[in-house]
Amino acid sequence: MGLIIETAGLGRAFGGAIAVDALTLAVSPGEIFGLLGPNGAGKTTTIRMLSTLLPPTTGTARVCGHDVARRAGEVRRHIGYVPQQVSSMGHYMLTGREKAEIEAALYHVPRRRVQARVSELLELVQLSACADRLVQTYSGGMQKRLDLACGLLHRPDLLILDEPTLGLDVQSRHHMWDHIRSLRDEGMTVLLATNYMDEADRLCDRLVIIDHGREVAGGSPAALKAAMGVSSLDEVFLRHTGHALREEVG
Ligand SMILES: Nc1ncnc2c1ncn2[C@@H]1O[C@H](COP(=O)(O)OP(=O)(O)OP(=O)(O)O)[C@@H](O)[C@H]1O
Ligand SMILES: [Mg+2]
Repeated sequence: MGLIIETAGLGRAFGGAIAVDALTLAVSPGEIFGLLGPNGAGKTTTIRMLSTLLPPTTGTARVCGHDVARRAGEVRRHIGYVPQQVSSMGHYMLTGREKAEIEAALYHVPRRRVQARVSELLELVQLSACADRLVQTYSGGMQKRLDLACGLLHRPDLLILDEPTLGLDVQSRHHMWDHIRSLRDEGMTVLLATNYMDEADRLCDRLVIIDHGREVAGGSPAALKAAMGVSSLDEVFLRHTGHALREEVG
């Protein structure tokens, strides 16, 4: 396959406010590609356009070879999307296995294959032992792993993760990174949004840094740092934008 994600001048305005401004991305098969930027940079808006949930107001995007505006159904068959906030409180009254089975139906996994597929994925994210406990008794890290498993149910070519480790402790974050790396190592393409510098640095093969909806720099973490002669992506961000990624308080 050619590029997994290919955008040209992709943009989105809300009224007069431009959330994403002329983003041009090229994501190859089998890479972990990051969208790194501060709160409000336009990461989720970009991801929602690529997932066919929000129409672009300018430019074009092709995902797995299909135009997101004209071939939304085709795009959806090829992607797994794990949103930033997986809410639906109703799901808390389900066990992890039940939740995954419902999601499998939503993703059109053939009925006769659902049980085996759900068990396989719960095993992958190390939730087998807790599969029959209510989701409301899961820790934040366990819930994130369940969300990840749900995004993989229909064997997508592209997995899209919006802030996959938001709110997790250090150990759970490292486990999540390991899961994402092993998916990549098996050939999956991963697009992830993050505002954690270390996550972008250690996990992504390539990334774009975005600020106020615009790409300010792009490349591998090593190349971005080398081009500026700095040792961290924080400094890359600061040099390009003139402000810190996180404004520390106090
Ligand atoms: N439905 C909407 N209506 C109006 N404005 C919106 C809408 N969705 C997003 N925005 C605006 O677009 C900009 C980008 O928001 P977005 O959620 O894409 O940022 P983000 O990079 O994902 O931020 P965060 O790190 O906080 O998740 C923000 O200014 C936001 O207020
Ligand atoms: Mg977001």
